Amino acid sequence: MRLVFGSDHGGVVLRRHLVEIARELGHEVVAEFGAQDEDNSVDYSDVAVAVCREVTAVADTLGVLVCGTGQGVAMAANRIPGIRAAVLSDPFSAAMSRAHNDANVLCLGGRVVGQGLARVLLVTFLDGGFEGGRHARRVAKLQALERG
Ligand code: RB5
Repeated sequence: MRLVFGSDHGGVVLRRHLVEIARELGHEVVAEFGAQDEDNSVDYSDVAVAVCREVTAVADTLGVLVCGTGQGVAMAANRIPGIRAAVLSDPFSAAMSRAHNDANVLCLGGRVVGQGLARVLLVTFLDGGFEGGRHARRVAKLQALERG
């Protein structure tokens, strides 16, 4: 899978860990945006925009965003047309966000989930796929909301 990662300072440690895992699993990490370390702050909204631009620019690209809680990056990401970002902390929701909501951005809290759980969430998200059918109708309604 083609992947783009980003985080603010609150998520930089987890972001780096997940980038390593993604590469080990054979995914293509095409870009990494955001904080270089925990001591130099970056605004989560800027990182979310950078990642989401890449996600919407090239088909079959997924994003992974990490901030302290996952909430800020998700709020920013979901304001960008074409983005369906899910804040995740359990594997069932990770699978369903792909199967039912066709989520294209995984948001995690670097101060919320540990590295072991984050790995499971990442793998579940990346292995998932959209079921379509009745869910396609619902996602189409989300897209209609974007158009106003
Ligand atoms: C940064 O301190 C923190 O506010 C941010 O990482 C995130 O949790 C916001 O949603």
